[in-house]
Amino acid sequence: RPSAPSDNRAGFRPPPALGCTGMADRADRIAALEAYHRDHVVACVRCPLSEGRTQVVVGNGDPDADVMFVGEAPGYHEDRVGMPFVGQAGKLLDQLLAGIGLSRDDVFVANVLKCRPPGNRDPLPAEIRACEPHLFRQIGLVRPVLVCTLGNFATKLLSGRPDGISRVHGHELPIQAGDLSVLLYPLFHPAA
Ligand code: URA
Repeated sequence: RPSAPSDNRAGFRPPPALGCTGMADRADRIAALEAYHRDHVVACVRCPLSEGRTQVVVGNGDPDADVMFVGEAPGYHEDRVGMPFVGQAGKLLDQLLAGIGLSRDDVFVANVLKCRPPGNRDPLPAEIRACEPHLFRQIGLVRPVLVCTLGNFATKLLSGRPDGISRVHGHELPIQAGDLSVLLYPLFHPAA
């Protein structure tokens, strides 16, 4: 059975609020997500991208969503506004959502990297390693049923496989994220 990166990676440990009971309620998880963002993400200095950012782009949407979208990294507009997918790629994401009868309020949207790489270059492996605990913790707290990865970087990170998006797009893949079984659904990045 395919699985995500092994359970002993820091980011895939079940969050403390869920570790033993596994049934923390919605309000607790929403509060834990807010606290995690406040305490660990908004002032993060785990990698040098922190030096060039305007602000951290944590992610937004329904913190209790069944469907989560994971993009690559903030671009110019996202860095300015502090929200994911607000530029041209965001319009395309909105269209994609509308096509399946959803809006941003129905889903949670995050990125592999929470800070903008200079000139919108590709994320570096060291940056992904530094930032991935944030994404894995977000998944563990939102507890989506379906995670749609947008493009290569999110797909490779969450599948734990090297297969590129051209090969795997549209092919669902069950993965294990800590104590959570999630269905991965890779899609082409809207900006591709
Ligand atoms: N905006 C984001 O927030 N993420 C992307 O991957 C692209 C644009």
